[in-house]
Amino acid sequence: MMKTIELEKEEIYCGNLLLVNKNYPLRDNNVKGLVPADVRFPNILMKRDAANVLQLIFEKISAGNSIVPVSGYRSLEEQTAIYDGSLKNNGENFTRKYVALPNHSEHQTGLAIDLGLNKKDIDFIRPDFPYDGICDEFRRAAPDYGFTQRYAKDKEEITGISHEPWHFRYVGYPHSKIIEENSFSLEEYTEFIKAYREDCKLVYKEAFGAEVEIYYIPANNDKTLIAIPENCVYQISGNNIDGFIVTVWRKNDD
Ligand code: DAL
Ligand code: ZN
Repeated sequence: MMKTIELEKEEIYCGNLLLVNKNYPLRDNNVKGLVPADVRFPNILMKRDAANVLQLIFEKISAGNSIVPVSGYRSLEEQTAIYDGSLKNNGENFTRKYVALPNHSEHQTGLAIDLGLNKKDIDFIRPDFPYDGICDEFRRAAPDYGFTQRYAKDKEEITGISHEPWHFRYVGYPHSKIIEENSFSLEEYTEFIKAYREDCKLVYKEAFGAEVEIYYIPANNDKTLIAIPENCVYQISGNNIDGFIVTVWRKNDD
């Protein structure tokens, strides 16, 4: 038995898999469901699922006080102030590398977090988050929970942003695993997933015994109809460009 989900065109601008970068701005500034990313820092916000998962990773690796969130959700005004402040203090070259233009920052989605190794002076734009010790434990655990390190060294041409070891983006599991296993940037994953359609789905066999079907559906100009099997957990996210990514969880005996 199937049920039909009806989506409006504007919903391509919502969801965990939004691609926000130099080419694709944030379209919906009305971000809902923001909560503190961490009880220690009540002013650093993220979307609820991302915040909950972040805490799970901290627990899993027994992070204690060794890792701190540095910057989470930013409003358009905040991103503008950070951009303008950096232009003034650090110049154009640095700013273009490390600060996204207002409305082109993942931080405005509530799905991104900058993390820092807890120490005396933490740099707000480029916090220290090294490739060893507890920070690297976080980095290695993150894809099991739905987070991906967003700006890799060898993807600078594609992302338009310099290597940022501290910036993590929630995309949801198992997308984070597929991204990690293929060393994709989010730009590459967004393109890759477009090859998988309703009649040719990507099937991810995950560690907990479920099979996850993932596929892309282009958005119609009016409504887009998506058929989902009854009694299955599913997620639908816009890609912020032209369509939807559907994720359907099937138990092994489905
Ligand atoms: N530092 C990242 C690129 C941002 O400003 O969104
Ligand atoms: Zn960041």
